[in-house]
Amino acid sequence: MGSAADTPTPVSDWERQLKGQIRRRYSTLKFPPDGAGRAIEAGYPAELIAKTPEWLAASYLGCGFLLGDLRLAGDEIVIDLGCGTGLDSYLLAMELTNAGIVLAIDMTPKILSQVQRISVGNIIPLAGDMERLPLTDELADMVIANASLNLTLDKGKALAEACRILKPGGRLLARDLVKVDELPPEVLSDPLSYNTSLGGALAEEDLVVEIAKAGFKDIAIMDHQPFSYVQSVKIEAVAD
Ligand SMILES: C[S@@+](CC[C@H](N)C(=O)[O-])C[C@H]1O[C@@H](n2cnc3c(N)ncnc32)[C@H](O)[C@@H]1O
Repeated sequence: MGSAADTPTPVSDWERQLKGQIRRRYSTLKFPPDGAGRAIEAGYPAELIAKTPEWLAASYLGCGFLLGDLRLAGDEIVIDLGCGTGLDSYLLAMELTNAGIVLAIDMTPKILSQVQRISVGNIIPLAGDMERLPLTDELADMVIANASLNLTLDKGKALAEACRILKPGGRLLARDLVKVDELPPEVLSDPLSYNTSLGGALAEEDLVVEIAKAGFKDIAIMDHQPFSYVQSVKIEAVAD
């Protein structure tokens, strides 16, 4: 399989505009009040949030707790795609030894700059687009994505990139949104529905097809939770 750098795909005006809107949204976002409380409500254990810097817990933007009772050996290379301000990157970094690294990737420079405030663990912030990752093949042991896959314009491409950068047998762990019913007309006709995460939601069976097409096996979709007009689910898969 070639690296992304070998096969650059041109960025269309539509993609540039939409991603510009998404960047603007995440650059100007006012975090809703009681972010730490929202994270706990979304399933983050209160004792973990208590050990997290307050500003970081307060800037949680995910769609649920992804890490569960995940245990790491400590020396893994983990990639957090669409990391936001880095709450999950931070929690992962706390599990790693000095031999492990979290690469925290986001395409919005302003939000990514917050990751530099995290002063513990081996976390490296990296500007990048999930659909065109600036990373070499078979680099990572694990890729996570919390509420970010849904914002990609071509989920197949983003999933193929996640698979490409994983070592064979590496794990994908994501939380994302799936459509249960057709979205209401006011959402469908809203040109901003993409950047509010709803416009890009796939039905669960279509999401599974995209994950398999991207090169993953052992795909599991679980832990369905209501989320606005859609459902938030946990996704696990293994790079073939
Ligand atoms: C809803 S926020 C989730 C942030 C974080 N994962 C969390 O749980 O708090 C989505 C993030 O994905 C980023 N994002 C959206 N599309 C992206 C893409 N194509 N490539 C990289 N990052 C992207 C946004 O800039 C934003 O920071």
